[in-house]
Amino acid sequence: MAVERTLTILKPDCVRKNLIGEVTRRIQEAGFQIVAMKMTRLTRETAGGFYAVHKERPFFNDLVEFMSSGPCVPMILEKKNAVADFRQLIGATNPAEADEGTIRADFADSLGENIVHGSDSVENGKLESAYFFSESEVVLVKS
Ligand code: CMP
Repeated sequence: MAVERTLTILKPDCVRKNLIGEVTRRIQEAGFQIVAMKMTRLTRETAGGFYAVHKERPFFNDLVEFMSSGPCVPMILEKKNAVADFRQLIGATNPAEADEGTIRADFADSLGENIVHGSDSVENGKLESAYFFSESEVVLVKS
């Protein structure tokens, strides 16, 4: 299996619930290396830009409102098979459908406020990572 990178965002609900530590612990315990990390607050414009692929969807305005409602913590994660393994760790987008023991099943309130984002492909992970981090903000880790 190839070493991959994926982009996650600990969303504003994760930060408000004081879950940065617990969610980060689970991510690290699952074997992901954090190669970039920051706390930031998206504006409506930057949140809309990040989720531009959804701009025609009925939930777009609520999504932008929520993602700009408070600070969030984007990270780039590295691991073998990172994209699929991370989506397994966080569970289905809708927490009501997420497997027991996943991050969303344990902590998310709703489809809209679902604690974490995870890239859906290596290619999108690269695009999404570049949205938050310059190359100089990504560290080299020993594998
Ligand atoms: P995320 O993986 O960050 O990508 C897009 C987000 O839109 C998704 O998580 C959900 O939090 C949010 N969302 C809100 N409503 C819907 C919906 N009906 N279908 C898919 N995603 C939705």
